[in-house]
Amino acid sequence: MILVTGATGTVGREVARQLAADHAVRLMSRAPARPAVPGPRVENAVADFARPDELAGALSGVRAAFLVTGHPVEPHDERFLEAAVAQGVSHVVKLSAAVVADETDDFLTSRQRAMEEAVRSCGIAWTLLRPRAFMSNTLSWADPIERDGTVGALYGSTPNAPVDPRDVARVAVRALTESGHAGRTYTLAGPEELSAHAQARILGDVLGRPLRFREWTVREARAYLARGHPPPVVEALLERAALQAGGGKDLRGDALAPLTGRAAGTFRGWANDHAHCFPGSR
Ligand SMILES: NC(=O)c1ccc[n+]([C@@H]2O[C@H](COP(=O)([O-])OP(=O)(O)OC[C@H]3O[C@@H](n4cnc5c(N)ncnc54)[C@H](OP(=O)(O)O)[C@@H]3O)[C@@H](O)[C@H]2O)c1
Repeated sequence: MILVTGATGTVGREVARQLAADHAVRLMSRAPARPAVPGPRVENAVADFARPDELAGALSGVRAAFLVTGHPVEPHDERFLEAAVAQGVSHVVKLSAAVVADETDDFLTSRQRAMEEAVRSCGIAWTLLRPRAFMSNTLSWADPIERDGTVGALYGSTPNAPVDPRDVARVAVRALTESGHAGRTYTLAGPEELSAHAQARILGDVLGRPLRFREWTVREARAYLARGHPPPVVEALLERAALQAGGGKDLRGDALAPLTGRAAGTFRGWANDHAHCFPGSR
């Protein structure tokens, strides 16, 4: 049995979808019956990282687990790993982030490094996945596109190496189901360096509707982030953005094709497959 946490989220849902045809899979969510990925041997588990009793149930009989956490303060990884050790899980594949290898000591990155260390030291075989920014982050542009066709970003002319979350999921599936991945850390970058401005150009092209791009000021970015995050997280995210602007991110990753069995997905390909998620697609 393979447990997929974050099974309603961007990467976990895709991991679940890719595993469901051929494997016995348990999909974890806090919401009863929410994951809904069909498959002959798919079951759902309702569990919260904050509730050890629920984690024990979700992990019962599990051989390998995909671990997705995101809380900046709560010890969700530590709680999960404790329960996984108690239930005799033999392999944990953890979704981390490429930023842990960047030269930044912001509050969020320090926490992510601690989460990785908890995985490495828990006594269970582990694999760490460190993706760069997900291409799917541009889904947040759906509303501004609907409003007036203008999208924006802070330091929007500086490059990142956005990766298709489906490629991240493919690597996770390999690590969960094949031998040879224990003790490995994979940095997962997309196949091309692209700024947010360049992504807007490609997306507009795919949607058949040119998008205007506006560079945000730090003040605008802070106000936007504050709608969804507490102040320390906002400042950490701004620090990371400044790191990108200063060229402080190493945008190279491990070669994706040997890990996924196919060429790395491009942003144009991702946009084509998700055009229906944006208003005004042809
Ligand atoms: N976005 C990026 O560009 C990027 C880049 C690199 C790394 N990452 C990393 O990717 C991770 C997020 O992955 P994602 O984007 O696939 O996730 P996501 O779409 O944000 O979804 C979060 C998932 O976590 C589950 N969840 C939240 N709180 C929970 C709790 N207390 N107990 C149990 N489950 C809980 C949610 O399930 P329910 O709501 O159904 O319970 C949901 O399935 C983060 O660690 C982030 O650092 C993101």
